[in-house]
Amino acid sequence: MNIVINGCGQVARALLHHWMGLKEAPKILLLRNSTHQLSDDRGLNEKFLTKYLENPQPFTQPLQSMEKILQKPIDMWFELTPTDLKTAKKIHSDISKVLDRGIPVVFANKAPLLYDYISLKELADARNVHLGLSGVLGASLPSYALGHYGTMGAQVLSMEGILNGTSNFILEKMEEGVCLEEALAIAQELGIAENNWAYDVDGFDSAIKMSLLASVILNKNMGFENKNIQGIRDLSLEKIQSLKSQGKKIKLVSSFEKDIVRVAPRIYEMKDLFYHVQGSDKALRINTDKLSDMTLIGGKSGLNEVAASLHRDLLWIKELTGV
Ligand SMILES: NC(=O)c1ccc[n+]([C@@H]2O[C@H](COP(=O)([O-])OP(=O)(O)OC[C@H]3O[C@@H](n4cnc5c(N)ncnc54)[C@H](OP(=O)(O)O)[C@@H]3O)[C@@H](O)[C@H]2O)c1
Repeated sequence: MNIVINGCGQVARALLHHWMGLKEAPKILLLRNSTHQLSDDRGLNEKFLTKYLENPQPFTQPLQSMEKILQKPIDMWFELTPTDLKTAKKIHSDISKVLDRGIPVVFANKAPLLYDYISLKELADARNVHLGLSGVLGASLPSYALGHYGTMGAQVLSMEGILNGTSNFILEKMEEGVCLEEALAIAQELGIAENNWAYDVDGFDSAIKMSLLASVILNKNMGFENKNIQGIRDLSLEKIQSLKSQGKKIKLVSSFEKDIVRVAPRIYEMKDLFYHVQGSDKALRINTDKLSDMTLIGGKSGLNEVAASLHRDLLWIKELTGV
């Protein structure tokens, strides 16, 4: 299988590590960053990739145009560029070209999907290719499986999720007496925090994931309004410790009901499933009319888990299309 990775940062390197541990690794035709690339039409040599992962060096080949790249025999495109709403339109346009060539795309960058999921989905459907969405919907938490297959034939009445592992991790550390800044620094060291960590702490990553999940389930673009998004930045250590002494925990929860996405801290008691979501684990509850309530818990954040979830998308798309 011939692969292009657009955006070769820590997630891409974790994915390359993951693949190099497999008996049969996919063939990497191109690794691409914002200004330079690394390309070999025969597939990048395994020994060379091992060396690169041990000591990543900046790429030196000048960037080829999208038109030139898309002449290569590419089987799957991995879009692992930063989630940055300012570049969403450009990346959306590039991915449209990829899909138009009949190449499936696996995403970790949420921005182009938030910008306009439906036009990408319609193009993918028209070209009979699939979108890999694990990396934008909570990585190893199989929220796509629950939201798509799990709700078929029923109406989704509401959803609630702990979809940002970093904020759950920070809140748990604060229960242990660690301040927010220190907890965030640990999350950054573990590679689970967004580069723009405000996305985690201020609730935007949670809002984006819930909006995307709603878009996928309802098959229409769903966004959110900033006024409905509240993060954990203003929560004090004292408040969290005081709740702990009362047997309660605070979680950053995104919700979807009547076409509105909200994010806010919520307090849970031990009898609630969300109380038990630990560390960087996540959770998703979907309430339907015909299939009752369903809850998923787990899918901890981490570069290895993200890599494995992107590989899961590859396997799923391969199974669907027999690539
Ligand atoms: N970390 C996690 O646990 C996690 C989990 C799920 C999803 N994600 C998502 O995964 C994506 C990648 O995250 P990361 O942690 O790997 O980020 P990262 O380390 O910052 O890597 C991003 C890479 O993309 C390159 N890039 C930037 N703009 C580009 C462009 N226009 N075209 C091509 N390449 C470009 C950067 O290269 P330059 O040096 O040239 O700028 C950099 O190598 C993000 O969208 C993030 O939200 C991360």
